[in-house]
Amino acid sequence: MASDNRNFPRVIAVTSGKGGVGKTNLVGNLAVALSGKGQRVVIIDADVGLANIDIIFNLRPEYNIRDVVSARKSLSQVMVTTRHGIKIIPGGSGFAELTQMNEGEKLSLLSEFESLADMADIILVDTGAGISSNILYFNAAADECLVIATREPTSITDAYALMKVMSQNHGTRHFKLVVNMVESEKDAKTVYASLSGALDKFLKNVVLEYTGYIPFDRSLQKAVQKKALVMDVAPGSHAASSISEISDRLLRSRGPNSDGNLTFFMNKVLNTGT
Ligand SMILES: Nc1ncnc2c1ncn2[C@@H]1O[C@H](COP(=O)(O)OP(=O)(O)O)[C@@H](O)[C@H]1O
Ligand SMILES: [Mg+2]
Repeated sequence: MASDNRNFPRVIAVTSGKGGVGKTNLVGNLAVALSGKGQRVVIIDADVGLANIDIIFNLRPEYNIRDVVSARKSLSQVMVTTRHGIKIIPGGSGFAELTQMNEGEKLSLLSEFESLADMADIILVDTGAGISSNILYFNAAADECLVIATREPTSITDAYALMKVMSQNHGTRHFKLVVNMVESEKDAKTVYASLSGALDKFLKNVVLEYTGYIPFDRSLQKAVQKKALVMDVAPGSHAASSISEISDRLLRSRGPNSDGNLTFFMNKVLNTGT
């Protein structure tokens, strides 16, 4: 219940303007890093186009959120648990239909999601890429919005476009940035400088916080080939240590969008769609 003063899970949306920039790998590896640091982590796979969190954990979930919406299953029946103890809520195309749900379905989904408050410290949402309304709702409802970009001009332009729409249409004023697939931190800082420079110039009052980088690392690609996570199969790799640093940074900070209330999060997700 929202009346006690226990800590509510922190909801972090991981998103990008352009696809294929490393969201799913960041979510999966970050979950492993955070759970290794004692956090109870739940992943919501809300990428309706390319839901593949289950693949990198080498899991084959039988059900997804759609079974919860239709009241065939409870959230705990749909949830799968990894060997790290991370809980995954498979989305598939189920989340695409959020906006078409009737009031009864919304209420039942909402009450199911309330149960998450007791089992998670951090909820990571893989929201997918782009500016479709579904993605924007999830990003806007989360406590924190973590944008991932690479140094490709298209990725930078699309990240800017995403933050522009989020700030103009949803009032989001604070974003976190992770730069992926770079040679060095210097390159990551260049990407950060160009994005935050553009925000300063064209969108007043929007803050972009540098949250770290992940180097281009073959170990990560090899892990993906094996349907595994670099954090598990190559913990000493450069990619794994960078992701561990990102998890430390996240644990040290808390987003200013935070209202610390999971029910509030789901309410926002479900209501803005109508
Ligand atoms: N740091 C990295 N180093 C090397 N390759 C990477 C890195 N991050 C991602 N990739 C490659 O990019 C592909 C897409 O990553 P993924 O996490 O699925 O992106 P998204 O979820 O944004 O579509 C991965 O399968 C991998 O081959
Ligand atoms: Mg993905």
